[in-house]
Amino acid sequence: MEKLKDVISYAQENLAQESTGHDFEHAKRTAGLAEKIIKKDQLAVNNFIVMASAYLHDMIDDKVTDEPEKAQRTLVHFLQEINCSFVEIEAILEIIQNLSFSAEMFAKAKSLSLEGKIVQDADRLEALGAVGILRAAYFSGAHGQAIYDENKAVQHFHSKEDYRRPSTMINHMYEKLFLLPEMMNTYYGKKEGNRRKAFVEDFLEEFYKEC
Ligand code: ADP
Ligand code: NI
Repeated sequence: MEKLKDVISYAQENLAQESTGHDFEHAKRTAGLAEKIIKKDQLAVNNFIVMASAYLHDMIDDKVTDEPEKAQRTLVHFLQEINCSFVEIEAILEIIQNLSFSAEMFAKAKSLSLEGKIVQDADRLEALGAVGILRAAYFSGAHGQAIYDENKAVQHFHSKEDYRRPSTMINHMYEKLFLLPEMMNTYYGKKEGNRRKAFVEDFLEEFYKEC
């Protein structure tokens, strides 16, 4: 599909400078996981919307860009240029504006379309397992967080500001990652999420042993 090829190139160009764990490889794996969810759960969906949203999901986020509104305007312009319809553009925007953990927890996110729920689960799987541990380490390094501080208590978040406050990489696992399997929308997402969570728990057991 020509349009999807253009979307993939756009994501590749725009995420080239990204170094906090939201790089193009993350977008690509998210798209692969979304495909897997569709297959395993046998879901009938608009594949272009799922794939485009997976590749573009971090593009207008304040974690990746200093100017989210400008990034959104540029993205809409690009989607128009490759001949996406108004309906397609609206569907993609609604997904990428509402799928994040922080949007769902604190910002009264709109309920997602089935396409959006799939991308959301795929993105959440990316925060768990071996990949999830490495991404948390990358994020922590990029934001000057410690790996571990036994005197720092695990937080319970009540607002986006709480969530964005520096934590430690190890605390982040309890503060966010372990909550994810419960929050999954799809069967495969939940099953694979629990498998990846168990891997993170094993990792932590070894980590504490070594400490
Ligand atoms: P969302 O986009 O769903 O709001 P984030 O952007 O906060 O989620 O998370 C994206 C990635 O960065 C995930 O792998 C997540 O675990 C990691 N991350 C986010 N916040 C932290 C943190 N405080 N410490 C370590 N890793 C983090
Ligand atoms: Ni993401």
